[in-house]
Amino acid sequence: MKIIVTGGAGFIGGNYVLLMVKKHPEDTIICVDALTYAGNMETLEAVKDAPNFKFVKADIADREAMDKLFAEEKPDVVINFAAESHVDRSITNPELFLQTNIIGTGVLLDACRKYGITRYHQVSTDEVYGDLPLDRPDLFFTEETPLHTSSPYSASKASSDLLVLAYYRTYGLPVTISRCSNNYGPYHFPEKLIPLMIANALNDKPLPVYGKGDNVRDWLYVEDHCIAIDMIIRNGKVGEVYNIGGHNERTNLEVVKTIIRELGKSEDLIRFVEDRAGHDRRYAIDPTKIKNELGWEPTTTFDEGIKMTIKWYLDNKTWWENILSGEYANYYDKMYGEKL
Ligand code: NAD
Ligand code: DAU
Repeated sequence: MKIIVTGGAGFIGGNYVLLMVKKHPEDTIICVDALTYAGNMETLEAVKDAPNFKFVKADIADREAMDKLFAEEKPDVVINFAAESHVDRSITNPELFLQTNIIGTGVLLDACRKYGITRYHQVSTDEVYGDLPLDRPDLFFTEETPLHTSSPYSASKASSDLLVLAYYRTYGLPVTISRCSNNYGPYHFPEKLIPLMIANALNDKPLPVYGKGDNVRDWLYVEDHCIAIDMIIRNGKVGEVYNIGGHNERTNLEVVKTIIRELGKSEDLIRFVEDRAGHDRRYAIDPTKIKNELGWEPTTTFDEGIKMTIKWYLDNKTWWENILSGEYANYYDKMYGEKL
């Protein structure tokens, strides 16, 4: 198969490319990425010369560029990871999220219709379901949970999900959607909770915890997410949504304290700062459907995965230090400067 992977220079897309170029040498992966602040060619270093890998720098919202690409490559499968993905950035600059996440998805869907594909897969998020109350640990997101978004980011992701389902119903485009919980692991951009806390703790810098730190996220090791997507594009049923998650719920404070403990640092580094506007309280996925239909189950527990992740950040300091010393430094100062 010829597979277009958009957003493959980012965190999850990058892990997907690194895994699948090796796992499926019979497939060709064409990585399409605009290389925004979150895209990083260093992530793809290990596969850049592989015979079944090709990189194309392009914006998924650029209709002409996508038309040319699809006409030349005639892909069998398209997996859309490309997105603006950080909730905090969506609060300060929503427009970019509409452009990439909604318009970009629409442009890809039109190209798929025009040139014909066997599968379009949309990488979505559990955030489209909104949040769950902290005092109801018995509640989980299923594929039937109504969409009920909180941030411009999650609203843009829900919009793109609806577009994908509309192209299935109206045009019969063969689509699938996955909605995953919070990922962590190697190559995670250090603006997100886990890599930010690891990098700051290693540099003995304050650890900014929003509100009381009691919000709950359901953490999944990134490779488990990638394997689930690989199963869905091969064996998932067209027109279906699959939730992905591994029942690894932790409060943010628990996560931060685990990182501090693993690195032998002091809890005095923790700073409770102003809360995120509209902050979702709890995410928790019910993964019964993907388990029963496709036999997917996570293989890495949070306790194992966080150790592996911390080790990766210790062993790959250049990867994240290059980011911290670049344009990201300005974002960090604007975002946290007055809060810390
Ligand atoms: P990321 O921000 O690390 O990477 C996004 C990638 O997309 C970057 O390489 C960036 O350069 C590229 N990109 C951005 N705009 C583009 C455009 N207009 N055209 C082409 N490329 C563009 O994001 P991530 O954390 O790897 O998330 C990947 C996908 O998974 C997103 O769709 C996100 O909504 C979804 N998701 C993320 C998580 C998570 O915990 N990180 C969980 C569930 C779902
Ligand atoms: O659930 C899936 C989603 O997970 C994905 O769709 C998003 O792309 C991804 O960014 C992630 O969203 P979150 O908002 O949950 O992730 P983030 O790492 O930004 O924050 C995790 C939690 O930690 C959240 O409750 C906010 C809190 N937080 C975050 C940062 C950056 C802090 O307390 N301090 C911080 O500095």
